Amino acid sequence: MKCHLQFRLRNVVSPADERTMNPSMTAQDVDSAHIEVQLDLPAKPISPDLFGIFFEDLSYAADRGLYAELVQNGSFEYSSADCPDWSALSFWQLTTANGAKGSLSIQDANPLNANNPNYAVIRCDSPGNNGEVAISNPGFDGIAVKKGETYDFSIFARRRPGETGSLQVRLIGAEGDLLVSADLPSISTEWAKYKAPLVPAKDDANARLVLSTAVRGMVFVDMVSLCPRKTFRDRPNGLRADLAETIAALKPRFVRFPGGCVAHGDGVKNIYRWKDTIGPLEQRKQQKNIWRYHQSLGLGYFEYFQFCEDIGATAVPVLAAGVSCQNSDFARGTGQQCIPMEQMGAYTQDVLDLIEYANGPASSVWGSKRAAAGHPEPFRLKYLGIGNEDAITSGFKERFKMLFEAVRTHYPEITVIGTVGPNPSGRDYDEGWKFAGDLSVPMVDEHCYVQPDWLLKNLGRYDQYDRSKSKVYLGEFASWGNTVRNALAEAAYMTSLERNGDVVHMFSYAPLLSKIGHVHWYPDLIYFNNAEVFPSVNYYVQQLFMSNAGTQCVPSELKLDGTLSEGRAATVSVVRSGNDLIVKLVNLAPTVLRTQIQLAGDERIEPEAHCWVLAGDEKQINPGDPRAKANVAEQVIKPVTSSLKVAREFSVNAPAFSLTVIRMKLLK
Ligand code: AHR
Repeated sequence: MKCHLQFRLRNVVSPADERTMNPSMTAQDVDSAHIEVQLDLPAKPISPDLFGIFFEDLSYAADRGLYAELVQNGSFEYSSADCPDWSALSFWQLTTANGAKGSLSIQDANPLNANNPNYAVIRCDSPGNNGEVAISNPGFDGIAVKKGETYDFSIFARRRPGETGSLQVRLIGAEGDLLVSADLPSISTEWAKYKAPLVPAKDDANARLVLSTAVRGMVFVDMVSLCPRKTFRDRPNGLRADLAETIAALKPRFVRFPGGCVAHGDGVKNIYRWKDTIGPLEQRKQQKNIWRYHQSLGLGYFEYFQFCEDIGATAVPVLAAGVSCQNSDFARGTGQQCIPMEQMGAYTQDVLDLIEYANGPASSVWGSKRAAAGHPEPFRLKYLGIGNEDAITSGFKERFKMLFEAVRTHYPEITVIGTVGPNPSGRDYDEGWKFAGDLSVPMVDEHCYVQPDWLLKNLGRYDQYDRSKSKVYLGEFASWGNTVRNALAEAAYMTSLERNGDVVHMFSYAPLLSKIGHVHWYPDLIYFNNAEVFPSVNYYVQQLFMSNAGTQCVPSELKLDGTLSEGRAATVSVVRSGNDLIVKLVNLAPTVLRTQIQLAGDERIEPEAHCWVLAGDEKQINPGDPRAKANVAEQVIKPVTSSLKVAREFSVNAPAFSLTVIRMKLLK
């Protein structure tokens, strides 16, 4: 029996309220709809890993993004391959004081490690009159430090026999004031690591690190590092806490890494090699970044796996399919390059070794390296991406097949994710799907960067998919912008993903992070500078979906009582998570949508529910975004939370341009 109870939806503006607030509104500014939720019909399973995140080191997402290291080019491995103006001494400056004489140079004989050949030589020819020879580093756009917090300084150094070899480290504030200093113990003639905890006497947003010597002779230095002691989960060599917490607050079910284009790289030599990114930092093989900067690889495969575990997410590494990015060496137009077939045996072994590194016992060759890094337990890898939006050429097909078959043979429990090109349609998409079908690849990675209108016109896309084919990982997805309209069009599309949870198993917005001043790709989910983090409106859409994900999609239908005009849309999805019933209602119209919700079936419902409403002006952009207008700087569009009374039949007023999420509890 249906029970008709009235309730007042707190916090969701009623049309009458809205007309009071906006006297020019008329009754026509309200549309109406009703939603039937068929609790009495069978629900469709949804993948438990549907909503995750995509991490790629672009727009400074890793070095002085998520990775907490504060010194830039501390390894002296920068070069013109990273960026035409850079060299091994970029971001280091020599200064002398009180008549001291000296120099700064780069050498590579007898390095700390062959993978990390360059080191710097600080040479003091004369200390002058109580002077010094110093080198300083500005970090990444300045070093932001806080009074009273500990920053762990470390360095590898050696001296020449017969010389004294002394070093002092200090942090100097933007105004030239001394924030903290420490003398290092005397330097030995062999490479050794020296450490000093530094506690600044005051806050400074733009400090620099200075290393100095006041005695005649040469000091050889490498791997200069300054890391906040306070990192995410207090991990050594850890992650920037505020950024990592912002990501963790999304509650992603998985993390895809390390890209994107970074994974398949700029030419064969730049293909991301996971083995180069593990082990002691000084032994990692640093690389240029395809986005025209540098990868220190301090955030490497171990750190990625650890982060996934820390936030309760499944790791989804993506390895190159033996080919580089088809946009490789754009200037010279070399395009996709293939690893020579005679090297593919070794490359295939690298791919298999990654699975052993993640899942093998601590006694196995690669599992022991994981254990040596402090994680004897397996990381429980279950997905592996092979390829990133590659052009589907014969070179790609030959190599993908080799890798896919090797993984399927040796690790049948791993779900391989193939790739179907950079766009949601076109030649690579068609060829990629056909190829995946021929090989029975269990899942493929689709990419979709489109206008909001495309999303609204394609809300039925996955309804048409053949259920017997590969499952979909919609691995790179965004509409072109960070306005409320963009975010809501994405939300509308995401309701269609929940309704098609039997086809779309995984989804991630891309890209995730972008440092203000170094935005290589727009739009992004989260902007940041050295001190602050600015989530976009799109971020809050992702968060509402991830924290209200379900395991079953309940049949439901939204029926509009009239018609919405061109470019407007309203969508709904209803999912179950345990005994929770979650309604997501998107209103992409400039009018309030008065919606009657009816729950068909016998289950009873708790009268109090949680409600989140994300609403704003359709063109609004959150502060921090490089395209936000200065005059909106104070206003952040984010969800407003309230509790509300619900029943088997109730009505809600979804504000103009809004996403409303209602989480109800079903009673046994
Ligand atoms: O997400 C940014 C880029 O978009 C990725 O690196 C690439 O895979 C895609 O073209």
